Amino acid sequence: MASDVLKTSNALSGQQRRVLITGVTRGLGRAMVDEFIRLGHVLIGCGRSAKIIDELNAGCGSPHRFDVVDVADDAAVRAWALEVIESHGTPDLLLNNAARINRNAALWRVPAAEFDAVIDVNIKGVANVIRHFVPAMVKAQRGIIVNFSSGWGRATDAEVAPYCATKWAIEGLSRALAQELPGGMAAVPLNPGIIDTEMLRGAFGDAAGSYPTAQQWVKQAVPFLLRIGAKDNGRPLAVG
Ligand SMILES: NC(=O)c1ccc[n+]([C@@H]2O[C@H](COP(=O)([O-])OP(=O)(O)OC[C@H]3O[C@@H](n4cnc5c(N)ncnc54)[C@H](OP(=O)(O)O)[C@@H]3O)[C@@H](O)[C@H]2O)c1
Repeated sequence: MASDVLKTSNALSGQQRRVLITGVTRGLGRAMVDEFIRLGHVLIGCGRSAKIIDELNAGCGSPHRFDVVDVADDAAVRAWALEVIESHGTPDLLLNNAARINRNAALWRVPAAEFDAVIDVNIKGVANVIRHFVPAMVKAQRGIIVNFSSGWGRATDAEVAPYCATKWAIEGLSRALAQELPGGMAAVPLNPGIIDTEMLRGAFGDAAGSYPTAQQWVKQAVPFLLRIGAKDNGRPLAVG
């Protein structure tokens, strides 16, 4: 089976990488799927929308693999990691992209449930994926972990305090993780820039239309992601 063959790194040709992306059903994640596959890489992805995950599996085919997984659910991430590592081996490039943003509001007006949901996906979801995929990567002593941060992980604005809090957390989490990895690996926080996606529309409204689309962004971002190496471990990076 193609998936069994993928278990050995030798089965990947030359520059081909196993790329794992969380949050592939829309936005940056969805656009990265197409661009990484176009460049010949093997894609593993997840999201919560079963309909779109089915469409991705049908459209992309083997050896790519897409599963319905809520990254905030630690048990679900654990089960997914066990299956993926068994079928495809360890990821070469692990992109913690899935996230959500609060509806624009002053912090004291954000309901507790909404604040919790942002924390659960943006911080705990990233930790869940790291908890279940990174041990195998550490054992193999190879792989790059990119945690999607934001301009709002390095600066702040009114009405997005919960989101800012999570992205500042991602900066610290990533840099501490970098200090724990063996040589040859890297963990970095990445500010992707400002891109016209559903998330940006949620925060910016129609003004989001003046920014690049995700399809335009990947032409610069995917080559940038593929160049990240051990030399970058712990460095806060930005696309563009
Ligand atoms: N767009 C920008 O300008 C911008 C700027 C700075 C940083 N970022 C960061 O870039 C990343 C991608 O943003 P985007 O603009 O593409 O956002 P988006 O359009 O809202 O897409 C988010 C993706 O994450 C998935 N997702 C959300 N919750 C999930 C969960 N619990 N489990 C699994 N998947 C989940 C969504 O799929 P489902 O709903 O199907 O699960 C969707 O595929 C995020 O980390 C974001 O913070 C974006």
